[in-house]
Formats: sequence, C-alpha cells, structure tokens
Amino acid sequence: MEATEYTEKLIEHFQNPRNVGRIPRPDGVGVIGDPSCGDYLRIYIKVKDDRLFRIKFEVYGCPAAIATTSILTEMALGRTLEEAQKIRPQDVAGALGGLSAVKMHCSNLGTAALYQAIALYQQQR
Ligand code: FES
Repeated sequence: MEATEYTEKLIEHFQNPRNVGRIPRPDGVGVIGDPSCGDYLRIYIKVKDDRLFRIKFEVYGCPAAIATTSILTEMALGRTLEEAQKIRPQDVAGALGGLSAVKMHCSNLGTAALYQAIALYQQQR
C-alpha cells in the first residue's frame, strides 16, 4: 500500500465518523497526543456490568486517526473491559482494510486512549 493510499472503508469512516462527541460524567477518560504529528485524541467511556455500553471520542487529527478511532469505538462497544483491552492497533487497521506503514502509528492513538480510559475507570472503583 502506498504511503498516502487510503481504503474505501477508511475514507467512509473519515467522512462519517461514528460515536463522535463527549459523554457527560464519564466513568473513564483517556487522553493521548502524538508529539510527532501534533494529533490529539480523547475517549470517554461509560461502563455497566463490566461492559462498555457507551463510548465517544473527540479528535484533532489526520484522516487515519479519525477513521481508526471511529471503527475502534464500533469494535469496542458492548465488549467487556477485558475484551476491549485486547483490541490491538493491528486489529483496528485490519478492520479498515489495512493502513500503509507510515500511517500505522495513527491506529495507536485510539487504542492507547481506550486502554487509558479503562485503566482510569478501574483505578477509581
Ligand atoms: S498523522 Fe498523526 S495520528 Fe495520523
């Protein structure tokens, strides 16, 4: 895959990102920035019976950061916390049909923010 090539699925998620926004009084929040590109992301979660039942995000980032976080929220919704912590950046990239090597780091932002939000929730219990 060329450095700037995006799959159709990635473009679709970039143009219509799912679960964008903020959750008031979230159970956990994850905040991640990538100093190498300046992109920035927040994920908010609500947890019920050990499952993610709401998840939203706000991002200032590239198309790959937006699309990977969008599809990550779809993949994580309804999963147990343990299952959600097993979602890897490669799984997210794969769900979009792949990412070029130079864009793989973009898929780290969402998963890192999600792990952080879950960890914060677990610490506060
Ligand atoms: S270039 Fe920064 S996350 Fe994509």
